[in-house]
Amino acid sequence: MASPGQQSQRIEAWFLENRRTLPWRTRRSAWRSLVSELMLQQTQVARVVEKFIPFMERFPDPASLAAADEQEVLAMWQGLGYYRRARNLKRSAEYIVQHFGGRTPLDVDDLLQLPGVGRYTAGAVASIAGRRRVPIVDGNVQRVLARLHADDADPSSRDAIDRAWQRAGALVEACDRPDHLNEGLMELGALVCTPGVPDCGTCPVASGCSAKRSGRQGRIPPPKRAAIKIEVHHHAVVIKRKGRLLMEQRGDDGIWAGLWQVPTVESKRKLVPSQVQRRCGIELAGIDRLGSFTHVLSHRRIHVHVFRGSIAAGVRAGVGTWCTSSQMERLPVSNAVVRILEVART
Ligand code: ADE
Repeated sequence: MASPGQQSQRIEAWFLENRRTLPWRTRRSAWRSLVSELMLQQTQVARVVEKFIPFMERFPDPASLAAADEQEVLAMWQGLGYYRRARNLKRSAEYIVQHFGGRTPLDVDDLLQLPGVGRYTAGAVASIAGRRRVPIVDGNVQRVLARLHADDADPSSRDAIDRAWQRAGALVEACDRPDHLNEGLMELGALVCTPGVPDCGTCPVASGCSAKRSGRQGRIPPPKRAAIKIEVHHHAVVIKRKGRLLMEQRGDDGIWAGLWQVPTVESKRKLVPSQVQRRCGIELAGIDRLGSFTHVLSHRRIHVHVFRGSIAAGVRAGVGTWCTSSQMERLPVSNAVVRILEVART
């Protein structure tokens, strides 16, 4: 097998030739790198491409994000999901202002002090923006390394994760440019060494790949056990009066914390309209079913049932806020609520 030095250099050279043009790659800074890496966790590149530039224009530095209203930050994050990351990013910005004079740090130990920043994100910012010689391992990198070494262990096992970090460490020690090597490993996983059938014909390190040598590149790593998803039912009641929509804010814990929604009754089982009407906490004159869809999150399968509720003139809603359409545009909502409003519009 080629030495780590040769492998690293092949990956670096391949990256320079084949990298995608992505907004966070056009100009590097620690702040841009921190924002993009947090956005990219568990979110597809195409989604992040849409959101990154407007977000950076509004929050060009940690100070602007630290000073912003959390509701606005969540609204700018809309569509990226996992809103806890947006809250952590804002708290990180506040920490950077308080402890680092507003300048995003580039050392791993400093980065690890930031809320929501773990070994991967700290390594990515330090190596990509700061060219520090530190490894990174995300899902893509772990797959590339498992195949190179024909490591067929369950990728979620502690040992497999530890070995991936060690192998990534050996490559970054031997490379010329840690930024090119680390982003190259990720890019290789995203474009060539893909989950299903990898495109070994275009891989710069195929000649040293143990999985390919034994014809097992399609079976390494073995499939992860699918996460068990709980099934729940959300009964969303769309209520309009004089062109305004009744919205309520979710609590600080659990899914979609702090985001806004139409009044929603959550239950383990599907409810009939009269039950929804009784449980929604609003004195409704009537309720009609509009349709249903399933919204899948990492640990939950949510069956969303959409209703239209009518409220008699003069009756106080008692809960929530009546929102105009221009207020709605600024309100942070989940993708599920976007879908609910689409059902109610059609
Ligand atoms: N996924 C995570 N980080 C990335 C990056 N810097 N470029 C492309 N995809 C990524």
